[in-house]
Amino acid sequence: MNPTRDQLFAAYALDDRRTPRVRMNFVSSADGAATLHGRSGELGGRTDRALMEVLRAQADVILVGAGTVRVEGYGGVAPQEEDAAWRRAHGLSPAPRLAVVSGELNLAPGDAVFADAPVPPIVVTRASAPAARRAELESVAEVLVCGDATVDLVAMTHAFTAQGMPQVLCEGGPHLFGSLLDAGLVDELCLTVAPHVVGGGAGRIVQGAAEAQHDLALRGVLRDDDGFVFLRYAR
Ligand SMILES: NC(=O)c1ccc[n+]([C@@H]2O[C@H](COP(=O)([O-])OP(=O)(O)OC[C@H]3O[C@@H](n4cnc5c(N)ncnc54)[C@H](OP(=O)(O)O)[C@@H]3O)[C@@H](O)[C@H]2O)c1
Repeated sequence: MNPTRDQLFAAYALDDRRTPRVRMNFVSSADGAATLHGRSGELGGRTDRALMEVLRAQADVILVGAGTVRVEGYGGVAPQEEDAAWRRAHGLSPAPRLAVVSGELNLAPGDAVFADAPVPPIVVTRASAPAARRAELESVAEVLVCGDATVDLVAMTHAFTAQGMPQVLCEGGPHLFGSLLDAGLVDELCLTVAPHVVGGGAGRIVQGAAEAQHDLALRGVLRDDDGFVFLRYAR
């Protein structure tokens, strides 16, 4: 049996919305690849897509790195009507905010991530980011400066909480995952394991982090009829 939307909401429920939390949502092949043909989308399946919507519905902020925005061609994040209704029923805004982490600001105001956004996204950057690019993006986004030489991700999460947005869902990519891990900010990992072995040279879901053993507790396991496994881990 495929998990229903209600079962997904129950399996991934947040016990306390006031405690700040960074939840990671990633997909991997059975042999550990984070991408197939350069993107993650081909690894996922129908339940993985349904789960993504359920996790988005529960989030205050959807966080992505600039690399993922560029490669995956991120557009605006607009929930389906039933998810918007779920959010309203739970006292949340109709849609989560999208936040893009970028130090270089190699993003254009005309990109779909800004042009198709129902609400202007947040661009999280550093004080030393190129000033002209920052000025351009200020016309289409809220620019949040965290850190001087690099983006300070701890300061970012504090800023989100101060704005009433403590529940962060990070959808990638691997370098942002690595930086969040190094900063001690990863509270949950929602990992879909796809029933494929893909070989090739694809990287893993974490890149650039220092080697260390970060222990996780297994909070839930689901599977679907297509052979996908859905693992919920918490710190
Ligand atoms: N398997 C999955 O679930 C999954 C999920 C998402 C993405 N992906 C795949 O991952 C690939 C992209 O990976 P990626 O690692 O290059 O992308 P990424 O982690 O989304 O983006 C990395 C970029 O984020 C910006 N950044 C700024 N400050 C940062 C900080 N403190 N820590 C980390 N990043 C910071 C930098 O952008 P600037 O250069 O602008 O400064 C950096 O180049 C794509 O192929 C995508 O399809 C897979």
